[in-house]
Amino acid sequence: MDTTLWSCLLSCLLLFIADAKHLQQQTGPITCKVSRATSMDLSYKHLSKVPRNLPRNIQELDLSRNNIYSLHDKDLEGLPDLCILKITHNGLLDISPSAFLGNIKLQLLNISFNALRTIPELSLPDLRVLDVSENLYGSYYLGKSYTSLLNLAFLALGSPQARSINLTDFASLHAIPLQSLKLSSGVEMKLYEHGSIAQLTMLQELTLHMTFCENPEIFGNILQDLNKTNAESLTLVKFFPDICNVSNGIFAGFRSLGHLKSLFFYNTWFNSSVMTSLVRNVIQSPVKILSFYNITFAQDTPEGIHIPNVPGYNKPGNIRIIVFQTIHHYQYNFPLINVNVTLFPYLNYVKFSGTGMSILPCNLISALPSLQVLDLSDNLLKGRGLWWPSCSFSNVFPALKELYVRSNKFVDLQFISNHTYEMKNLNKLDLSTNSLRLMGMSSWPPHLTELSLSDNSLGDAAFSYLSPYVEIVNLSHTGITALTQTAVSQLSSLKHLFLSSNSISSLPSDLSLPDLEELHIHQNIINTLNQNTFEGLPRLKRLKAGRNPFACNCDIAWFVTSFNKTLLTDWPSDYTCSSPHDLAGMALENYHPGWVSCTPWIQAVISVVIIIIVTGVLGYAFYTFDGAWYLQMLWVWLRVKRRGYQEANRLRAAAFKYHAFISYSQKDSEWVDTQLVPNLEAANFNLCIHERDFVPGDWIIDNIINCVEDSYKTLFVLSQNFVQSEWCNYELFFAQHRALSIQQDSLVFILLEPIPADSLPKKFLKLRTLLRQQTYMEWHKDERKQQVFWTNLKAMLQVADKSMVLERVAKEVTELCHLLNENE
Ligand SMILES: *[C@@H]1O[C@H](CO)[C@@H](O)[C@H](O)[C@H]1NC(C)=O
Ligand SMILES: *[C@@H]1O[C@H](CO)[C@@H](O)[C@H](O)[C@H]1NC(C)=O
Ligand SMILES: *[C@@H]1O[C@H](CO)[C@@H](O)[C@H](O)[C@H]1NC(C)=O
Ligand SMILES: *[C@@H]1O[C@H](CO)[C@@H](O)[C@H](O)[C@H]1NC(C)=O
Ligand SMILES: *[C@@H]1O[C@H](CO)[C@@H](O)[C@H](O)[C@H]1NC(C)=O
Ligand SMILES: *[C@@H]1O[C@H](CO)[C@@H](O)[C@H](O)[C@H]1NC(C)=O
Ligand SMILES: *[C@@H]1O[C@H](CO)[C@@H](O)[C@H](O)[C@H]1NC(C)=O
Ligand SMILES: *[C@@H]1O[C@H](CO)[C@@H](O)[C@H](O)[C@H]1NC(C)=O
Ligand SMILES: *[C@@H]1O[C@H](CO)[C@@H](O)[C@H](O)[C@H]1NC(C)=O
Ligand SMILES: *[C@@H]1O[C@H](CO)[C@@H](O)[C@H](O)[C@H]1NC(C)=O
Repeated sequence: MDTTLWSCLLSCLLLFIADAKHLQQQTGPITCKVSRATSMDLSYKHLSKVPRNLPRNIQELDLSRNNIYSLHDKDLEGLPDLCILKITHNGLLDISPSAFLGNIKLQLLNISFNALRTIPELSLPDLRVLDVSENLYGSYYLGKSYTSLLNLAFLALGSPQARSINLTDFASLHAIPLQSLKLSSGVEMKLYEHGSIAQLTMLQELTLHMTFCENPEIFGNILQDLNKTNAESLTLVKFFPDICNVSNGIFAGFRSLGHLKSLFFYNTWFNSSVMTSLVRNVIQSPVKILSFYNITFAQDTPEGIHIPNVPGYNKPGNIRIIVFQTIHHYQYNFPLINVNVTLFPYLNYVKFSGTGMSILPCNLISALPSLQVLDLSDNLLKGRGLWWPSCSFSNVFPALKELYVRSNKFVDLQFISNHTYEMKNLNKLDLSTNSLRLMGMSSWPPHLTELSLSDNSLGDAAFSYLSPYVEIVNLSHTGITALTQTAVSQLSSLKHLFLSSNSISSLPSDLSLPDLEELHIHQNIINTLNQNTFEGLPRLKRLKAGRNPFACNCDIAWFVTSFNKTLLTDWPSDYTCSSPHDLAGMALENYHPGWVSCTPWIQAVISVVIIIIVTGVLGYAFYTFDGAWYLQMLWVWLRVKRRGYQEANRLRAAAFKYHAFISYSQKDSEWVDTQLVPNLEAANFNLCIHERDFVPGDWIIDNIINCVEDSYKTLFVLSQNFVQSEWCNYELFFAQHRALSIQQDSLVFILLEPIPADSLPKKFLKLRTLLRQQTYMEWHKDERKQQVFWTNLKAMLQVADKSMVLERVAKEVTELCHLLNENE
């Protein structure tokens, strides 16, 4: 069979699936978009009439299962937007002809399961779906008003009292584009006027829920009328009740049909003789899809369904699709089927599901020449039930591509894999929901590229039982706890990997599946998604990763912000945070940690910048508030104190005339006279002052020597002036008195202005060394700093008396601290 035909058939199948859905809910042609806000469910409310003052914008109103017995003129007025109205199961007896006058937008009206005695007149030009079935009227007569239902597409009628159909009944529908008609009296048809249904020329599908046991010719007449419409689909519900007296000729009408494509049987009793008759006739009809849902089968003929050939018919049958879904076996034994497969040359889809089958009629099914899809789901098959040892498997399933054996009793995967080699074209095998166990290693043929092992307890080993040729693998719900690159590395052809509903806690960051296009990992226990994982999946087009317990932290931030969401089939609804606790339940979509807080290098840069700024600010503050000066002063003071005891001893031995000898330049005399001297003399220090206390006539050096020797400390008021005019004397003095034991500790330098040691003339060797070694005190213009200065200076000059030393240290520490604090 060529591919065009195959795809056509697949679309037929889809059509048929759509049909089945259509049967369940006839809302297909409805065009209004009802939102939750404009929909009101008032079912099961014990209402006896339509409530007043309903919101005016209501589009959908459900009044089912109440006790509304009649609909009056004004009951539904004030609902101009009403589009869908359901008043089923109410015991409704009558409807006023003008009840829906104000509801011209009504598109669906369901008044089934009531007690209407006549089919009500309706003038609703927009009505598309009307269900008046399961009522109590005696005739299917549709009044003149139905000529105005120009949009009516679906109509359901039915009353156990209405057992005849007159030509006039559907006359009003002559020009209506009705597509689907459902007649469901549920009882025996008594009379049918030939031509009644033929008036519905646009009809596409007909559903009959009635029996023809007594008047099988009525069914024949209906088939003939159906032939005159466009109908391609016929559904027969409860066509045969348990006891039905029909001749086998009831299906003869199918043979001469022109364009019927699908035939569906629901909830019907069948025995093998009737089934045989049906199949013989359908083979000769244009029907392509033959389906049975929920049938009860009894074998009334010893040979079962027996169709060795069809006498007098030598054309191949048209059937493409046969579906048996749910068969109840009346006799609890498996039906005999003996059908000549050459009658089904085009049959390519067979579904045999929910039948309790434990052994496949292998010689029959496997011999179907063009069978491409075999669905044996929901049976009781085991390995040897499908591959029955007495069946010949030399050349079986010549065209079979897809085999579905979901929900059976298969156990041995190796056995199955061995046998897939026998199906030379098989490329898809669905083994979901069996009892598979991994025993011996399995090997698979190269043509098998799609495998579903979902819903079996396989565990992590499952990966090593897969074929390297496999492209699509479903391992959902198989108890897998880990996905590793090693496990999937040999699956080089993998394109679709489904691992939903397992216990995988993370995806490996080294995952590398270059051809993978689709990955399902939803409903696992994954906390986070690693960006590296997806670098190994360059072809990924679809990802389903929702319903995992995501930890909303920086690790997943990239996913929220930069992952291509068009790849996600379940975004955003299925993605929520599970942790941390305060974010639990939040939609992952709404998780937006600042990119700063989640980007380490930005953080590093910011930290560095902050450190630089803080350092800068501190440095600036230190500079502007003369931190260096304070530090220096503190250092001076500490040194003074450290020598306190030493000094005390020294002082006791020595007797000084002066506390200090002050040497300064004449040019700095103003400062000395106004600041230094008054301050120190006020503190009762004896001072020997250069010039004032020098003995006139003595050589200056002698004067200096005398003063230095009589003083406890020698105070130099250093300034550029002093260095230039006075210091040379002292260089000389120090040169001469090298042997003299002048303690350098007794020298105190007060800097009136900054004098870097290196800026001094090279000849002042001593001063340079002294300034480098000694700590000096800088004079400052700031008054607070001056106080610190004086405190330190006085402390230095204090002629220590041993008992006083400790006390003074304590006092001065407090003072100094106080001063320093004040300054901040
Ligand atoms: C009308 O309501 C009945 C009862 O709920 C339901 O079975 C039937 O499918 C509905 N008909 C349509 C056309 O929706
Ligand atoms: C139409 O059917 C009714 C019964 O529903 C019957 O009484 C009547 O005679 C029929 N009319 C015609 C014209 O056949
Ligand atoms: C079935 O039909 C036969 C004759 O055709 C008749 O004798 C018998 O009574 C019928 N049975 C029922 C239940 O209608
Ligand atoms: C088989 O079923 C048909 C239709 O229900 C019935 O007429 C016939 O009598 C049945 N045959 C047997 C042997 O029960
Ligand atoms: C059904 O219609 C086809 C043409 O579509 C025609 O050939 C055939 O004879 C008709 N069958 C009956 C029973 O009217
Ligand atoms: C199956 O058919 C029987 C009657 O044949 C009916 O009673 C039962 O409700 C049907 N089951 C379903 C699921 O339709
Ligand atoms: C099956 O049918 C073909 C023709 O339709 C016929 O030639 C063949 O003999 C039949 N096989 C059996 C076993 O009846
Ligand atoms: C599958 O085939 C291998 C080798 O062909 C064989 O050893 C093994 O027993 C077979 N397993 C089963 C369960 O048939
Ligand atoms: C995989 O198998 C699970 C369980 O049988 C099923 O629900 C799911 O739809 C499958 N996934 C795909 C993509 O076929
Ligand atoms: C996201 O993925 C889609 C589909 O693969 C692609 O068309 C689109 O260009 C991607 N967008 C970005 C921003 O990468």
